[in-house]
Amino acid sequence: MQATDIDGKAYADNLSNRISSILPSFENRTGRMPGLAVVLVGSDPASEIYVRSKNRKAQNLGMESFVYTLAETTSQSDLLTHIEALNADDRVDGILVQLPLPAHLDEMEVINAIDPDKDVDGLHPVNSGRLLAGCPGFVSCTPLGCLMLLRDHLGKLAGMDAIVIGRSILVGKPMAQLLLNENCTVTCAHSRTEQLAQKARQADIVVSAVGKAGFVKEDWIKPGATIIDVGTTKVVIDGRKRLLGDVDYQAVREIAGAITPVPGGVGPMTIAVLMHNTLLAAHRRSGLEAPAL
Ligand code: GUN
Repeated sequence: MQATDIDGKAYADNLSNRISSILPSFENRTGRMPGLAVVLVGSDPASEIYVRSKNRKAQNLGMESFVYTLAETTSQSDLLTHIEALNADDRVDGILVQLPLPAHLDEMEVINAIDPDKDVDGLHPVNSGRLLAGCPGFVSCTPLGCLMLLRDHLGKLAGMDAIVIGRSILVGKPMAQLLLNENCTVTCAHSRTEQLAQKARQADIVVSAVGKAGFVKEDWIKPGATIIDVGTTKVVIDGRKRLLGDVDYQAVREIAGAITPVPGGVGPMTIAVLMHNTLLAAHRRSGLEAPAL
């Protein structure tokens, strides 16, 4: 039997609707809408598209959206000054600096400059620490979106064996920590992991975030496992542009129980969760109880 597709687009649309329904009462109580500031340095075409989508989504929901496009040549100190201004701006609840930054900029110093309580990207070490300790904070949008899909599809995750392939601070590490907090037994695999296929075959949950098209094969998969494919690689096949995931989708869906397709799986979740984190930040900064979403 073929695996069930996990419909991230439908889940993300539903989450957006729930966010939208909470905004009027936030505005009534505070006299303002949650505000998201997105900072783009330079003109990387993929980053420009992501930033445009984030801005459009925030505006469509009725949130305040501030986009700052800075020159490729922006200095580290000018960028830090800009972030300090956003930290001090009361209209701004969430700050996201689009990554990657141009090579002359120090990404970690920039992330460290963001007020942790406005860090809706969940990348500040204070928020990684909160996640590690199981305290309320902000969790990086893509892994939190993956967890929402897993919970929705599987219910309780406790006791399951999970493997996360990839260890970036944006996806792999927070994903592994989130699954551990759900009481899964977690393997965090990476480019130096030996016998990866054999380790993956033990897992009830496979999350792949390596960015290599078709990397995860069907003989890596335990029958019935749930597969979350975070990878997106642009390819041209027969002159047509296509987006491929890390997982060999056609082959793996013959073995797995459920799988996120690419596109339409994890992708739509990232922006919806960014809106969720911004709503959360706005409530916390206003001293209001965070809504359960
Ligand atoms: N670049 C690609 N994905 C992301 C993301 O989730 N956050 C940031 N800041 N940059 C990104």
